[in-house]
Amino acid sequence: MNDTQLSSPGATAAPLEDRRVLLGVCGGIAAYKSAELTRALVREGARVQVVMTEAATRLVQPLTFEVLSTRPVACDMWQTAPGTRIQHTDHGRQSDLIIIAPATANTIGRIAGGLADNLLTSLVMASRTPVLLAPAMNVEMWSNPLVQENLARLTNLARYHVVPPESGELACGVDGAGRLAPIDQIMDDARRLLSPQDLAGRFVLVTAGPTYEPFDPVRFVGNHSTGLMGYALAAAAQLRGARVVLISGPTALNPPRGVEVVSVTTAIEMRAEVMTRLAEADMLAMVAAVSDYRPTARATAKIHKTSGDKEIRLALNPDILAEVGSLETRPLTLGFAAETEDVVAAAHRKRAAKNVDFLFGNLVGGGRGGFACRKNSGVLVDRSGTQESFPLVDKAELAHALLDRLAPRLATRTPEEVT
Ligand code: CTP
Repeated sequence: MNDTQLSSPGATAAPLEDRRVLLGVCGGIAAYKSAELTRALVREGARVQVVMTEAATRLVQPLTFEVLSTRPVACDMWQTAPGTRIQHTDHGRQSDLIIIAPATANTIGRIAGGLADNLLTSLVMASRTPVLLAPAMNVEMWSNPLVQENLARLTNLARYHVVPPESGELACGVDGAGRLAPIDQIMDDARRLLSPQDLAGRFVLVTAGPTYEPFDPVRFVGNHSTGLMGYALAAAAQLRGARVVLISGPTALNPPRGVEVVSVTTAIEMRAEVMTRLAEADMLAMVAAVSDYRPTARATAKIHKTSGDKEIRLALNPDILAEVGSLETRPLTLGFAAETEDVVAAAHRKRAAKNVDFLFGNLVGGGRGGFACRKNSGVLVDRSGTQESFPLVDKAELAHALLDRLAPRLATRTPEEVT
């Protein structure tokens, strides 16, 4: 088998890719931060339609949003572009998600009160699209019981979600709660609201990064894995509703939001952490580049230079994935293999040898993604011998595409797959 025999390229699905997001900007000083939010949404492939209240246009020029979203900004309920229908019904109905950032006390109150007296409140009223509110206001306004009651009224309805403001220095000079939530957090909530919840109620175990196998207190045997693919997979599973534990070798990455990270250094430590949690897990994704060998001896003091060559004797590490594959009952398993040649053959061979449900093989080096870069491509093989190729895409996008294939299998596993 070789790369030319692959089935058609796999569909990929990042949560915001090609999704229609309506971004409502209200008249709070944090309106300038919505420009950054627009950029972040566009960067992830969303089609952003900005709607500004009249007050917002006094703080930021619509032109700013027009340039960033590459679409005319809608502000006026009474103005329709030639050939279009009524804005307040079209924009809302045509969106996959409405984000209101900043959401002022005024707009929150109007929506909660069932008012539709400007373009933004009208289009919220005239659609069933999920709404993510990112409030930002003065601390006294935020703690005002009426604002809290209005928010509670909205969040009692399944359609409304709130990303709460954070505490810090406010534009009015005082310290307190009311600052617009960080853009990263708003983006994360937007991704979650646009992700299928096909892993809700599931427990997913992911390993990531390299393992370091020390032979003295300052040196180790390791590899170039950065952990990006494993972290992306853990984040994607969490967005899709799973409880996720990420067992991570040494990396420089921030823990994905909502994911419990267990830090390990060696393969033996990683094995212990995986085995402790395996019985509860619905899915195990072994993305870690586990070191196959460890030095047989570990000096307690630094080994100093002497004349002549030195040898390090290596002992075989446990193969965690193969051990899981040999268990009587096991979760749905996904292995990874980074190869420099014959990736398809290697993927089939390793999947069978380790008795894994799925194995994703990717070529490393030569501009094909993989180690230490944000993109990856490769081939996914499964028990039935099916193979599917995935084009070079961002690792977050690839993580969702892989979960698109795996999640449905959780419900349909045959007894032979489970045991
Ligand atoms: N793996 C593991 N434990 C090991 C080595 C690998 O669990 N000691 C897992 C990896 O996390 C990965 C899969 O096995 O999901 C394939 O890893 P890879 O290093 O490609 O496979 P090896 O069997 O070590 O083969 P190679 O000879 O190519 O190193």
